[in-house]
Amino acid sequence: VKHLLGIRDLKRQDIETIFQTADQFKEVLQRPIKKVPTLRDTTIVNVFFENSTRTRISFELAEKRLGADVVNFSASGSSVSKGETLIDTVNNILSMKVDMVVMRHSASGAPHFLAKHIDVPIVNAGDGINEHPTQALLDAFSIREKLGGVEGKKVAICGDIMHSRVALSNIYCLRKLGAEVTVVGPPTLIPKHLAAALDVNVTYNLREALEWCDVANVLRIQLERQNTPLFSSLREYSLVYGINRALLESLNKEIVIMHPGPINRGVELSSDAADSGQSIILQQVENGVAIRMAALYLLSSRGGKKLEA
Ligand code: CP
Repeated sequence: VKHLLGIRDLKRQDIETIFQTADQFKEVLQRPIKKVPTLRDTTIVNVFFENSTRTRISFELAEKRLGADVVNFSASGSSVSKGETLIDTVNNILSMKVDMVVMRHSASGAPHFLAKHIDVPIVNAGDGINEHPTQALLDAFSIREKLGGVEGKKVAICGDIMHSRVALSNIYCLRKLGAEVTVVGPPTLIPKHLAAALDVNVTYNLREALEWCDVANVLRIQLERQNTPLFSSLREYSLVYGINRALLESLNKEIVIMHPGPINRGVELSSDAADSGQSIILQQVENGVAIRMAALYLLSSRGGKKLEA
């Protein structure tokens, strides 16, 4: 069984295959009738143990636009509260003849653990601080669309790198596609060995990173993953690492602004930057549906399981 557990497992060719397939689905999504019967007779369950707006709706739309039957499961309100384990929960759902699982979990490695115990494809919709592969794919796809390619582009990933699965998946994806990556944020929110381990540049100076880059992918501070906050205060963070229109206008060039959402407006990104013409935040969300259609299709038996991972 092939899964999509992380970008780390993918080859550059896999990513390009996903993009080429997403191009075709994006074209379908522009038509008056946005559905194709590609995954008719396939049942997909979206198992969410952690909150989500974009990823969950995007997967459900992607599945429905491929003609799949869709079941949604939230841990809240389920028998997880009575002590049922992850494996028991998923095996019970699978016994009702489900063909694929999309899973989000707060524990890093949860989908990898599950993949060892079940024999249907699993798509990781975000696991703890580990990976969020479809987010990285839609981010790189959006850069490719906006700038005509990813190879050689300079991308600054800004903010809470330490707790961000989006940062890690983006670094893997962008480096595999030949982009240069700089991470920027407070020293306490950037892992010490990141630069050497993942071949990225590190700076703690936001202006320096923004002057260097073509694209800034701005991340939220993940307060829910910090027992003790690793920065002084949101106000101080915003003063040093917040991006606003005045800062963007003071740069030596116009850069593209991205954010995976949800935005903490006025903290990492002001409204006058998030809603500006330089922002492609809503295009990222739009592209998420085509990317997820492509990933689901390629992992399914209909797609010939074309991914190597
Ligand atoms: N980008 C992202 O994962 O957003 P959600 O948490 O709302 O799904």
